[in-house]
Amino acid sequence: MASAAVTYARENKARFLNELKDLLRIPSVSTLPEHKSDIGRAAEFIASEMKRIGLEHVQIIGGGEGHPLVYGDWLHAAGKPTVVCYGHYDVQPAEPLDEWHSPPFEPTERNQNLYARGAVDDKGQMYMHLKALESLMKTGNGKLPLNVRLIIEGEEEVGGETIARFVREHPERLKCDVALISDTELFAPGLPTLCVGLRGMVYTELEAKGAMTDLHSGLYGGAAPNPLEALARIISELKDENGRILIPGYYDRVEKPTEEELEAWRRLPFEEEHYRKTEIGSTVLTGEKEYSVLYRTWARPTLEVHGIAGGFTGPGAKTVIPARACVKISMRLVPDQRPDEIFKLYRDYVNSLVPAGIQLKVRQIHTADPILIRTDNHFVQAAAEAMREVFGKDTVFMRSGGSIPVVADFEKALKVPSVMMGFGLPDDNLHAPNEKFHIPNFHSGIESIILWFQRLGA
Ligand code: BES
Ligand code: MN
Ligand code: MN
Repeated sequence: MASAAVTYARENKARFLNELKDLLRIPSVSTLPEHKSDIGRAAEFIASEMKRIGLEHVQIIGGGEGHPLVYGDWLHAAGKPTVVCYGHYDVQPAEPLDEWHSPPFEPTERNQNLYARGAVDDKGQMYMHLKALESLMKTGNGKLPLNVRLIIEGEEEVGGETIARFVREHPERLKCDVALISDTELFAPGLPTLCVGLRGMVYTELEAKGAMTDLHSGLYGGAAPNPLEALARIISELKDENGRILIPGYYDRVEKPTEEELEAWRRLPFEEEHYRKTEIGSTVLTGEKEYSVLYRTWARPTLEVHGIAGGFTGPGAKTVIPARACVKISMRLVPDQRPDEIFKLYRDYVNSLVPAGIQLKVRQIHTADPILIRTDNHFVQAAAEAMREVFGKDTVFMRSGGSIPVVADFEKALKVPSVMMGFGLPDDNLHAPNEKFHIPNFHSGIESIILWFQRLGA
């Protein structure tokens, strides 16, 4: 029989979803300065929701230059474990807007999916924590079966500087036994999954300068250096055709997954052709052929070019040699690569590739450590059991190629394990047009979290 909290969550499904829609209407895009006030509104929304459901010490913690954190706790379950629940209320930019079938900040239901920017990454998933807690509070005479501290940030999509500093400087304010993060995916629809590994990240920008000003390409072509061409040459030296990164020393600290882990990955329901067609939609898959797709995307480091700016990109033609050009490049790291070390190797290598006549600036924008979670503890095991109960299948473990910078900070500063219990799906269009959250997953997520809390508090 379902517990009172689960019954409450089931009876309040429609309201929970409507409240989430209100939050999704706030365009809290963290990277764009013009959305600063929306960031503030989203933080206020969450703080008032925390207060409404009965959390205490609710506080919006100013981020100075950055975006605020929202904190709330409930710490009256003496002798029971304390969970830090983490989420982020910031979202990626919604562009390109004309590819959305419904406007990104007008949440819309179609085929049991809720479409909106942030639906699954991460507003919808963060909201599951609040609704699980509300269900437990409302059916438990205002009490919870365990202690919680919620910390919701507004900067995850831009590197999470503010929360990193907060965790480092005030570990006592997040003192806990375990952290819960719902910002990942199920391996496949209906398959209960815990994520046990994330790649790290070094995000960089190269700025190339040539002439003192833009120049007529007829009058000066043949004599003036071209920064766009310089960047193209540098980029072409970063990887070989097989996807191997050419930065000297780059692979020195890369660790192989255990044979046991690789064997578990081989048992996951994965079909390369299906993946190529439905998730990538390209004619071939690229990358290091000697590794499987899951291995390449979960446990091999990579490097990607995100955007190049410079010169003329408008309609028609303009004959110009641009004076400057810029490129954004990031690297995904795996255990035990270290972001600072990798940045230095990258910087030195890139500087060795600069063509004559070009001045190059190499900037590091943000970093995240790679992480691997141990599964041999009560918290992870209880999470696997809670999800098995809700989904009616054995829970699988996966890694993910994505990054969540704060997870490593939790491990280092709080010295606690994390449970990454996420309910996205592989086709949720994270960071892309038509992001969605499968509505049944929103509800089974809430139920899984309720059951996990109850197990920990038992
Ligand atoms: N939630 C994602 C990361 C993610 C998605 C992990 C799916 C596992 C499964 C997160 O919001 C994200 O996009 N992170 C950024 C971090 C970066 C800006 C430091 C990323 O991975 O690009
Ligand atoms: Mn996220
Ligand atoms: Mn994201």
